[in-house]
Amino acid sequence: MVQSCANVASVSAIRKKRIAVIPGDGIGKEVIPQAVRVIEAAGAAVELTSFDWGADRYLADKVTVPPDGFATLARDFDAVLVGAFGDPRVPSNIHAREILLGMRRQMDLFANVRPVRLLDPALCPLKGIEPKDLDFVVIRENTEGVYGDLGGVFKQGTPDEVAIQEDVNTRKGVERIIRYAFDYCASNRKLDGSPRRRVLMCDKSNAMTHAGGLWQRVFKEVAVDHPQIETQHMYVDALATQMVRDPRGFDVIVTNNMFGDIITDLAAGLQGGLGMAASGNLRPGHTSMFEPVHGSAPPIAGRNIANPFGAILTAAMMLAHLGMTGEAQKIEAAVLEAVRQKKTTADIGGTLGTREAGEWVARAIATS
Ligand code: NAD
Ligand code: IPM
Ligand code: MN
Repeated sequence: MVQSCANVASVSAIRKKRIAVIPGDGIGKEVIPQAVRVIEAAGAAVELTSFDWGADRYLADKVTVPPDGFATLARDFDAVLVGAFGDPRVPSNIHAREILLGMRRQMDLFANVRPVRLLDPALCPLKGIEPKDLDFVVIRENTEGVYGDLGGVFKQGTPDEVAIQEDVNTRKGVERIIRYAFDYCASNRKLDGSPRRRVLMCDKSNAMTHAGGLWQRVFKEVAVDHPQIETQHMYVDALATQMVRDPRGFDVIVTNNMFGDIITDLAAGLQGGLGMAASGNLRPGHTSMFEPVHGSAPPIAGRNIANPFGAILTAAMMLAHLGMTGEAQKIEAAVLEAVRQKKTTADIGGTLGTREAGEWVARAIATS
């Protein structure tokens, strides 16, 4: 009996993780192949399946997400690796909203985890900031806020036109993201091994009193359950200034959907630009989705100049989430070495193309 249980456990441990890969549009189609190449170089036990969701597919057959698309991802895959969506040929951006925001909402990927790390001081536009000084994480609510597309336009095209965009904040949604942030703080360490200590809630409760009031009350309630964790509050405007003047004190930041979107692009600037930032869209215990923070960058798409490291670091984050920490560490170490040796794309000071930078990292892993 004991032996058969052990066998079952070991069979499930060696089952390859099934990854759905959706490169999407623009530079997504360039950076994701590099992330895939690196996953393979790291020898990760994965089975990859590609999906063609994106602008080309939409323009060809008007399908954004095929019937049962999200159910298939949730049922048949352990994780989803995504590039980016957005194409000037689809000015309404409908496919991007239906695929990306649809995935987040319909798969209930409520925690958007965006780590902010500095691999090399040369990448940070601020003076005197070392890698040890920039190691925080933004936990962004990912299913509510102004992203619900609730609202309407009245008297469109007249001088009396009114546009309303509702900001939805549910008790359940606010509480689960704040709890997630405290749990993250309690169970994760900084890169230097020291414990995380503080959760900062960022809002605009001085102006947005109804939603802000709910966030404030829930934050205080949840904090009582975590007496060992320090708490802090900042309005989002003041936080933006602090982030570019001195980001050293940030640890875990929890915030709503829109503020999280904005401050993580700002934070990407501290890391060396949008090409360096990784993220996960998580629902604990369920299929989660991983994507670089950047978009499809139409002006640079198709030119082999996009930085693939955000996508590659995102792949590492995905593997770590799936329990492949050794493979994830190999990837992160190889990216760090590439940055140190300037084997990078031009946005962070190198001379390599997207493919060549990916190839360099893959080779560094293979020979490590
Ligand atoms: P963007 O992130 O695509 O680009 C912003 C700037 O950063 C541009 O100057 C771009 O050249 C640069 N940049 C981005 N990624 C880079 C990389 N890997 N290497 C080098 N430079 C990089 O944002 P945008 O221009 O506001 O949006 C373009 C399209 O992407 C829009 O349709 C937008 O809706 C969409 N978008 C999608 C996602 C997503 O799918 N997750 C995220 C953001 C934006
Ligand atoms: C992101 C993007 C998306 C967002 C857009 C494309 C809707 O900017 O993932 O950061 O606002 O969430
Ligand atoms: Mn964004």
